[in-house]
Amino acid sequence: MSSLVILGAREHAKMVFATLQDALSKEWEVLGFLDDNSSLHGKDLLGLPILGPIQDMAGLAASGRIQGALVGISCNHMAVRARLFSEIKRLRLQTPSVISPTAHVHRLAAVGEGSVIFGGAVVNAFARVGSNFVAYSNAVVEHECVLGDNVYLGPGVAFCGSVRVGNSTFIGTGSSVVCEKIGDDVVVGAGAAVVRDLPDGAVAVGVPSRILQIRTPEERKESYILREHVK
Ligand SMILES: CC(C)(COP(=O)(O)OP(=O)(O)OC[C@H]1O[C@@H](n2cnc3c(N)ncnc32)[C@H](O)[C@@H]1OP(=O)(O)O)[C@@H](O)C(=O)NCCC(=O)NCCS
Repeated sequence: MSSLVILGAREHAKMVFATLQDALSKEWEVLGFLDDNSSLHGKDLLGLPILGPIQDMAGLAASGRIQGALVGISCNHMAVRARLFSEIKRLRLQTPSVISPTAHVHRLAAVGEGSVIFGGAVVNAFARVGSNFVAYSNAVVEHECVLGDNVYLGPGVAFCGSVRVGNSTFIGTGSSVVCEKIGDDVVVGAGAAVVRDLPDGAVAVGVPSRILQIRTPEERKESYILREHVK
């Protein structure tokens, strides 16, 4: 059995761990969590240690204590998620995909490594999603969709067929996507109906969706907190 660490020690990291236990417990053992909040170091989370800051991943890899890592950082920090995934790959660690036994990934769909797909979610035949993908419960990616890397879907998002999406885009809870193309670093609020294409950096909400702002490339490197109480 191989060992991995989960990067982050908050809500999303807990969900990654819980689903990994359902999906991959025979192949992967979780050594613990890494988080840059020093007040958490030495504490336990779900019976596992919070070992130290994320930079400790390099030492754990070099010493052979871990063979893999998974990003457990939430959609509030999409740029951080992308950066950490690159760091995992730079260290030549494995990134197994965690697919809940109650999710449905069709055998003719393609899902990139390091992805986490929660219960009830569907990636249907002929859909392709990139690496570091997250689909929360009951999200649906229909046939012929092509999603980039680090795309993150809230619960109950529905993509109709043949939609193209760039990298590091977040789609909020319960949104429906029926347009042709969504760019990189887009944020779609909860409950939207995306009927028109969205350019890189757009923040869009509503039914039909309207663009609230277009973030500059510099702004897209910053975290976008999707709910005020989630810090
Ligand atoms: C879209 C979102 C990111 C906007 O957050 P924000 O930048 O802080 O925006 P604000 O709260 O300042 O709202 C700006 C405007 O958009 C409206 N708005 C915000 N979210 C909206 C939504 N989901 N649907 C419709 N309108 C919305 C506000 O009413 C406000 O309108 P006004 O200017 O006419 O008063 C956030 O509201 C949201 O929907 N987050 C998604 C959460 C989610 O799905 N999480 C899943 C975790 S897995």
